[in-house]
Amino acid sequence: MALIGHPLRILLLSSHEGFRDNLDQILSERLPGGYQLFWVTLPEVAEKRARELLPKIIIIDDALVGTSASHMVRRFRQQVPKSACVVAVNATNTREAQQAVLEGARAFLIKPVNGDDLLSVIEQIMAEPEVEIEENLVGIPIRSTRKGRAVVIVAPKHGVGHTTLAVNTAIAIHQLSKKKVALVDADFRAPGVDLALNLHEQYTIYDLLPRVSHLDESILMSVMTHHTSGIYALPSPPPQRHIQPIPLPQVQEIVLALKEVFTWQFIDLQTSPDDTFIAFLESVDGIILCLSPELTVLRNARLLLDLFAARGYPREKTIIVLNRWDMKGGIPASEIEKRLRIEIAYRIPDDQPLATYSNNRGIPLILSHPKSALARAYLGLARHLMQYCPTTDEMLQPAVALNQSPNRLSFIPLWKT
Ligand SMILES: Nc1ncnc2c1ncn2[C@@H]1O[C@H](COP(=O)(O)OP(=O)(O)O)[C@@H](O)[C@H]1O
Ligand SMILES: [Mg+2]
Repeated sequence: MALIGHPLRILLLSSHEGFRDNLDQILSERLPGGYQLFWVTLPEVAEKRARELLPKIIIIDDALVGTSASHMVRRFRQQVPKSACVVAVNATNTREAQQAVLEGARAFLIKPVNGDDLLSVIEQIMAEPEVEIEENLVGIPIRSTRKGRAVVIVAPKHGVGHTTLAVNTAIAIHQLSKKKVALVDADFRAPGVDLALNLHEQYTIYDLLPRVSHLDESILMSVMTHHTSGIYALPSPPPQRHIQPIPLPQVQEIVLALKEVFTWQFIDLQTSPDDTFIAFLESVDGIILCLSPELTVLRNARLLLDLFAARGYPREKTIIVLNRWDMKGGIPASEIEKRLRIEIAYRIPDDQPLATYSNNRGIPLILSHPKSALARAYLGLARHLMQYCPTTDEMLQPAVALNQSPNRLSFIPLWKT
């Protein structure tokens, strides 16, 4: 069975260790490395665990204490509607199986569960497409036009200018495309989007977490801030010493839900490569790695590039943007390319007075100084992204108006689905 992407997450609710071992043995033989089995014994803990893990499949043993499997199916359907519930019953307990199916279970298994039955149920659940498939103009299947592009902007260290890049590029792409654009601040240690946009809203990305299993447009819009530039921002809480990590399933749900609503989603990512950092990288279509021509930045960039390679990301998932490329005393672009064995896709010029002035005022320079070389560079990058990483509705348009930009160094076809 082809299980592409992340390992299949299965949550088992059963008070019997033997049942867990039985399932684990079948799965390890049939799906080696392709699954994660989580086990909870108590129904009262199971709902919370399901909300945290957002498993693809929940298997519910009918031998529960104090509740029935069908009741738990009803609870899971309310709490984690995207998870498929499967009940495991004794051969004499088919009434409970029927009841569970009426409550919304996708299938039932007879205990002791045999490998073929379990695999066939998993295959049926996995076969159901998560996104609608359509055909583009030349008949190539593409993902639904409702799915936008999610892009993280990351830097090897703070101070490189990746927040400035994220803010101005997000606004530039909104100005050019007139599409809905989201800007997410996922730099929880050193947030900057709220300052760059002069936002004073109380809601942050953490307000989405309790509702992460059933995010929809109205929930997203009630939490996000509509900025005067036209983009929607999802700020981070103010910097704090103890940051609650956001686990991969929740990051995936947030990114996916935003993709349903926004044509473009830019995520200003933290620089420390912890689990939340990896979760965002794994959840997005593309990575913009922002560099500046300084030795310390390049040294850390190597580490990041090695991390991307180690995690198996195709080279085309990342594009390199050299910020402040003409900075006095900076390392020349050609030397950076040689040193890091990379191709710089785009360059942004140096203008410290303007960048700092605009960041300090909380007015993005693309709005206050649209004719500056910096603003034109961000617009050029936005055009580059629209041409080389088009969203499906942009692909279906006759052509994206493109001005040749002196900053464009290379043409890398990226993130096309
Ligand atoms: N293209 C640029 N030219 C000159 N200075 C810049 C440029 N982009 C950003 N800066 C400045 O660099 C500093 C760090 O920018 P910021 O976007 O906050 O970086 P990061 O998010 O990587 O920490 C700020 O003072 C900002 O004004
Ligand atoms: Mg920043």
